[in-house]
Amino acid sequence: MSSSFILAIDEGTTSARAIIYNNELEIVGIGQYEFPQHYPKPGYVEHNPDEIWEAQMLAIRKAIEKAKIEPKQISAIGITNQRETTVLWDARSGRPIYNAIVWQDRRTSSITDWLKGNYFKMIKDKTGLVPDPYFSASKIKWILDNVSGAREKAEKGEIKFGTIDTYLIWKLTNGKVHVTDYSNASRTMMFNIRKLEWDREILELLKIPEAILPEVKPSSEIYGYSENLGKAIPISGDAGDQQAALFGQVAFDVGDVKSTYGTGSFILMNIGSNLVSSENLLTTIAWGLGNKITYALEGSIFITGAAVQWFRDGLKAIDVSDEIEPLASSVPDNGGVYFVPAFVGLGAPYWDPYARGLIIGITRGTTKAHIARAILESMAYQTRDVIEVMQKDAKININSLKVDGGAAKDNLLMQFQADILGIKVIRPKIMETTSMGVAMLAGLATNYWNSLDELKQKWKVDKEFVPIMDSKERERLYAGWKEAVKRSVGWAKV
Ligand code: G3P
Repeated sequence: MSSSFILAIDEGTTSARAIIYNNELEIVGIGQYEFPQHYPKPGYVEHNPDEIWEAQMLAIRKAIEKAKIEPKQISAIGITNQRETTVLWDARSGRPIYNAIVWQDRRTSSITDWLKGNYFKMIKDKTGLVPDPYFSASKIKWILDNVSGAREKAEKGEIKFGTIDTYLIWKLTNGKVHVTDYSNASRTMMFNIRKLEWDREILELLKIPEAILPEVKPSSEIYGYSENLGKAIPISGDAGDQQAALFGQVAFDVGDVKSTYGTGSFILMNIGSNLVSSENLLTTIAWGLGNKITYALEGSIFITGAAVQWFRDGLKAIDVSDEIEPLASSVPDNGGVYFVPAFVGLGAPYWDPYARGLIIGITRGTTKAHIARAILESMAYQTRDVIEVMQKDAKININSLKVDGGAAKDNLLMQFQADILGIKVIRPKIMETTSMGVAMLAGLATNYWNSLDELKQKWKVDKEFVPIMDSKERERLYAGWKEAVKRSVGWAKV
């Protein structure tokens, strides 16, 4: 039995979680608390940093209690977080000067439209990102422009900015440490991912004083020590949640790819230390280990699991989400029906805000089961859309896809995913890959684990799905999907 453990803090968009791992990479305790979402106006999404902190501390205490351990048995802490979400606080009092503006918030679209129109290439080249309200930079500008006195204080260095990792490290160290890691910095749209520094030109454009920014560090090193858990525990891992999940899938080699199926899906490919630019995907930093940077290509799909929620809550076709798999399995195939879940437009690789959802191919013989099947299949087709572009842009042929997130539990979907991609789909035994990834980063920095090889050996597979569909059938089905997508594109403009 282990006598020391790693605490992973996983601060997500809707809940704060804490997960405790032992040396065999097994979970010994979990705590989870939801916190309120605030929608002050249409398009605005905010979190109260105090509510996040409170929920996070409750989750940590619950995880420790569940694990039946003493805080002193925690040998290191790793932090992973919803990315991009922006907090500004007063350096002296530690009080946030405004609520956290969440990654989903669209209030700054006029700022990013201006950037898109005038500086698209410069921003894409330097940051790997497409100007969009999604990222932190325009949110900082908004707070500085709209909170009275904020800009003057910021210029005097009296304000600090952080993504949620930075804010939590600041709180855990009682205001002693103001840092972030490369993966989180690379989501702010003001970090130069080639030169590995805050980019002066972008900061000047947005009038963001450099003094408010945290120091950017590798994803695995001791940043400071917690002062709120009874004992000083090293905080030694930090990574944005999608990058942490890539690490937690032991996707350490070039060409390793993971997909997390949540409300939407985030697909990331390890592209190694050579940066690859892509027209339709984001280039981002996966992690920094010592002085070695690993880059990733990222494709975000807006709606995957949310389509099942819509089937349940909007259409009231099922009572609970788990019913979709048996319902979809009750028919041998989709019966020619395709479902394009473009509820909020289409993300990667189409990037069409005007696309809208459709169901097509309905005949007299179509049943609820065919629609259920088409919904599940749409997750797999969208994943192939992104992976095809990834392979082309990175010039890498992949031979397997690692999966996690809610829908990865669905065997029918995972078999179909393997069939439609024509490659193996690998599901890990522990699907908590996000928290596991940052636990690994924290444990590597403190020699709790000694090498990436040791982690690979301890990481276990639950099930591998091998493609069984013949290639003609695969291409026939996928061609149908592409036709359906064409019909959904631009619909909101009709
Ligand atoms: O980029 C946003 C992403 O990091 C949010 O992840 O899991 O908190 O919804 P999640």
